[in-house]
Amino acid sequence: MNIVVTGGAGFIGSNFIKYIFKRYPEYKILNIDKLTYAGNLENLKEIEKNPNYKFLKKDICNKDLEEFLDGYDVIINFAAESHVDRAIYGPEEFLKTDIFGTFNLLEIAKKKNIKFIQISTDEVYGSIEEGSFDENSPLNPSNPYSSSKASADLITISYFKTYKVPTNIIRSCNNYGPNQYPEKFIPLMITNAIENKKLPIYGDGLYRREWIYVIDNCKAIDLVLHKGKEGEIYNVSSEFSIPNIEIAKKILNLLGKDESLIEFVKDRPGHDRRYSIKCEKIKKLGWHIETDFEKGIELTVKWYIENKNWWRIIKESPQFITHYKKTYNL
Ligand SMILES: NC(=O)c1ccc[n+]([C@@H]2O[C@H](COP(=O)([O-])OP(=O)(O)OC[C@H]3O[C@@H](n4cnc5c(N)ncnc54)[C@H](O)[C@@H]3O)[C@@H](O)[C@H]2O)c1
Repeated sequence: MNIVVTGGAGFIGSNFIKYIFKRYPEYKILNIDKLTYAGNLENLKEIEKNPNYKFLKKDICNKDLEEFLDGYDVIINFAAESHVDRAIYGPEEFLKTDIFGTFNLLEIAKKKNIKFIQISTDEVYGSIEEGSFDENSPLNPSNPYSSSKASADLITISYFKTYKVPTNIIRSCNNYGPNQYPEKFIPLMITNAIENKKLPIYGDGLYRREWIYVIDNCKAIDLVLHKGKEGEIYNVSSEFSIPNIEIAKKILNLLGKDESLIEFVKDRPGHDRRYSIKCEKIKKLGWHIETDFEKGIELTVKWYIENKNWWRIIKESPQFITHYKKTYNL
């Protein structure tokens, strides 16, 4: 199979590319990535010389992308501006990449008659106090990130209905694991704890998310790639939720650090209280969780201990420091 992965230098995309080459060494992958602050070719070091792998540094909004995409079977769109905190103070890039970029790729998929898989998020459903959303629940996003992702989902659905482009949408809960940029909650908690820095927790710390180990999500995407029914949307979740404060305590405990490192900070606007999704459809395709949170968080802490060079370079960059100060009003 010949696959185009966009955003493959980011967290989930790079894990997905490495997963695919392990499982299907004969597949060919073209990775298209603009290399924003979140893109890092170090994530792909182990496969960069693989003759079945190609990299193209380009923006998914670029109209001339089309000329590079002959002979491919599918586009899997991971590329996005993905950090809610950044969306709050700089929404424009989110609208450009997440909405217009998706539209641009759908146009190419339409012209070349190839499958299109949109990597979406549970955040498009918005917050739910009790119970869980399924794939037919209405979209009710709360911030510029989740609303741009919801818009991209709607455009994807319209290309299936109007132009019969074979599409799938995958909405997963929060991912965690190796190579996640350290502005995100779990790697920020782990790396700050390793450095004996304060662990900033928004509000009362009782915000709940469902968490999935990134490889379990890659397995779900693999399944949809091979067995997904055209036009279908699939939720993907561990269905295991835990308040942020408990995650911080667990990480401190694993690292043998004191809970006094926890620091409550002013909440962010539009902060969704709880996300929860049902994923019966993906389970019917044969998917199940293989790495529970206890195991996954241990593996993740171990990875960040063993790869200090990877994240220290990022955390020492002026770009990271500026964002960090702005986010936590330091
Ligand atoms: N991380 C999560 O918990 C999570 C959960 C659900 C869904 N998602 C979705 O999964 C996808 C991947 O998330 P991630 O956490 O790996 O994100 P990430 O921020 O780590 O990576 C995004 C990648 O996209 C690239 N990119 C950004 N704008 C681009 C553009 N205009 N053109 C080409 N490349 C561009 C970046 O350089 C980077 O390599 C996103 O679509 C996100 O919405 C993420």
